[in-house]
Amino acid sequence: DWTMAAFREQAIAAIRHQVGDGRVICGLSGGVDSSVAAVLLHEAIGEQLTCIFVDHGLLRQGEAEQVVEVFRHHYNIPLVARDASELFLGKLEGVEDPEEKRKIIGNTFIDVFDEEAAKVGGADFLAQGTLYPDVIESVSFTGGPSVTIKSHHNVGGLPERMQMRLVEPLRELFKDEVRVLGRELGLPESLVGRHPFPGPGLAIRIPGPVSREKADILRKADAIYLDEIAKAGLYDAIWQAFAVLLPVRTVGVMGDARSYDFVCALRAVTSTDGMTAESYPFDHGFLAGAATRIINEVRGVNRVVYDVTSKPPGTIEWE
Ligand code: XMP
Repeated sequence: DWTMAAFREQAIAAIRHQVGDGRVICGLSGGVDSSVAAVLLHEAIGEQLTCIFVDHGLLRQGEAEQVVEVFRHHYNIPLVARDASELFLGKLEGVEDPEEKRKIIGNTFIDVFDEEAAKVGGADFLAQGTLYPDVIESVSFTGGPSVTIKSHHNVGGLPERMQMRLVEPLRELFKDEVRVLGRELGLPESLVGRHPFPGPGLAIRIPGPVSREKADILRKADAIYLDEIAKAGLYDAIWQAFAVLLPVRTVGVMGDARSYDFVCALRAVTSTDGMTAESYPFDHGFLAGAATRIINEVRGVNRVVYDVTSKPPGTIEWE
């Protein structure tokens, strides 16, 4: 794509101009935006960049491993990967309120990031994968969970606290353009085409208190669901698809015994910007197949339901 090739050259020149010989820290989330920003920065300033990846223990299956594989091993980008799952899960113990979960995760994220940044000697700049819609939304949006997106996902609060200047090389781009740029930079399709994932991760897909046990159950169910979607060739037709682990147990039969396990809800939506969304109209055979696999392969789940709510009145996430 020639426009993106040109953008890439311009962006690299602009980063070099802004940063000079300063040091830059970039927070990686495993998502498309921060990944593309990091690779672009690395092209521009090489070893002046250090990436920090905080694993809060609430990521999807295989996500943490993929971040390390792609950035440290494939691109050779200096990467600090901190497994802080004990800390996050400890702080979330017994917390039920969705906004409270977001606050705890956001604050803990900043603390850990701060700590890791200090360990590598700090930096002059903080790089973020802020997109054009984020720039607009942060001035015009006045309610709902998306407000927290800005404070967590784009690590708001950090620049002030760490007295770093911001580098935001994707500020002029929309999501689809970032994906084109990511491909231009050679990022793997599995990362570039990935569905959006909320900063607080699985914590807001486990209504009620979060535990490691529940996160593990959900991760398995979610991975099977996404695998079925990929096998059916539907991944790219869907904006976001995920499983939710409900705080409800129901009775079932397993062989000749009675089971009493959790309910898992499946969600899939189409959308162009996440602001409105429609439930994806899977055929019944697909859903029945996914449900059977989840119940057979995931211990702790004995019932699966599908969410047909659109947004509005529902939201995409359950919390
Ligand atoms: P809702 O659930 O509000 O979600 O329809 C709209 C989009 O935003 C994502 N989302 C979040 N992303 N931190 C994030 O980084 C959050 O707290 C958060 N809450 C929702 C959601 O996954 C969807 O893409």
